[in-house]
Amino acid sequence: MPHDDISTLPTGVALTARDDHFREHPDEVYDRLRLHAPFHVDEAYGRRVLTRHDDVRAVLRHKQFGVDARKSGPGSYMRRVAGTGVSEGMGNTAYEPPLVLIDDPAHRRIRLLMSKAFTPRAVENMRPRIHAIAEALLVPLAAEPGFDFIERYAGPLPTLVIAEMMGVSTAHCADLKRWSDAILMGYDPERDSATQRRLRESYVALTAVLRETVEARRRSPREDLISAMVRAQEAEDRLSDLEIISLCTQLLVAGNVTTTDLMGNGLHALLAHPAQLQALLNEPALIEQAVEEILRYDCPLTETARFALEDTELHGCPVRKGDTLTASLAAANHDPAQFTRPHDFDITREDTAHLAFGSGVHVCLGAPLARLEGQIGLQRFLEHFPHVRPASTPPRRRQLPFFRGFECLPVMVGDRERSGAL
Ligand code: HEM
Repeated sequence: MPHDDISTLPTGVALTARDDHFREHPDEVYDRLRLHAPFHVDEAYGRRVLTRHDDVRAVLRHKQFGVDARKSGPGSYMRRVAGTGVSEGMGNTAYEPPLVLIDDPAHRRIRLLMSKAFTPRAVENMRPRIHAIAEALLVPLAAEPGFDFIERYAGPLPTLVIAEMMGVSTAHCADLKRWSDAILMGYDPERDSATQRRLRESYVALTAVLRETVEARRRSPREDLISAMVRAQEAEDRLSDLEIISLCTQLLVAGNVTTTDLMGNGLHALLAHPAQLQALLNEPALIEQAVEEILRYDCPLTETARFALEDTELHGCPVRKGDTLTASLAAANHDPAQFTRPHDFDITREDTAHLAFGSGVHVCLGAPLARLEGQIGLQRFLEHFPHVRPASTPPRRRQLPFFRGFECLPVMVGDRERSGAL
């Protein structure tokens, strides 16, 4: 550990994926913060950054901390990263915050209704479809010596799965991916006005497609999530159309890129650790453990935020009403107080209590689906392409805060005698 002085610890943009050092070596930065400033004051963004597993878990479960940015002050970090600017200048398309940005009692009510539609059975029913969708994407790739794993496989797979599960026509797949990527930029505290404009346009276009689908399912229901939500609405008159649309938007936006990143970060970690890749190829039953280790080792959603609803304290540290805390899930997942050899990638690891899906009332609703997609997606890929290896073009990580993953991850897949650059 190098000599450190709290005044030299990074703040603001230097603690985001826009910073080259942080993006490529986040563990080095997290280790310094955890050791020297576990309640790191980041004045540039007006927040404190928590990096210990215990503190991160505690703030996510603490009743005095909220997520609804509308209650936080103007100019607060919470507002900067909550994408609430989406409501401005949207004409007559109203905006409803996503589930992850609503506090109780509304959160409890909507989450309960949502859980009725998004059941473990509904997810399990998707198993054969996830296999079939993976297969349809993989078969044409066999004719190629190499390709971009993100563009051709890890990107489209979750979009096709969630679109089908919701009951949105997969003919819209390319648009859905483009719109959800643009809406994701609402979480970037550094977004400029052009990005904000694209975000708004995408939100309006996506809302129109979802509104049409809700109306179509009301006229003739099917076995899909939107029909189930419309049924819940009619039975209990408690879920508005706007709430359904907002939920579907979140399923698309938060569920898509994170699952792409689970697969991309996973393949990247396996390629960087050939012995682990070989162990998985030798024993495919390790896939469930491997996915948990990928989630811990290089977690797709690196942090989330909370602000204090009242004056309170966290593990003895006073917090004033309105203060924002960033809970670093990625740092918590590499805390040596929680994990032995935290920076080692070990798919047989037994201490797997990671926080990649969060904790407390907002714990990821889509975790069972993400796990299933990650397991089937990676396993099917390795069955098709056991000789996968990095291409000569290096991979490129995304520069967006929170959502850690690859923009492109070029791989070669033919057997080793056939080579070539991508
Ligand atoms: C590997 C993939 C995924 C990761 C790492 C992930 C991570 C997370 C995390 C950390 C949270 C909690 C955020 C907070 O407490 O502020 C969350 C919430 C949520 N996730 Fe995921 N997620 C993934 C996939 C999905 C999928 C596939 C879906 C659905 C299709 C989904 C839907 C949701 C929803 C609706 C919430 C909000 C829950 C609430 O506020 O009650 N996620 N996710």
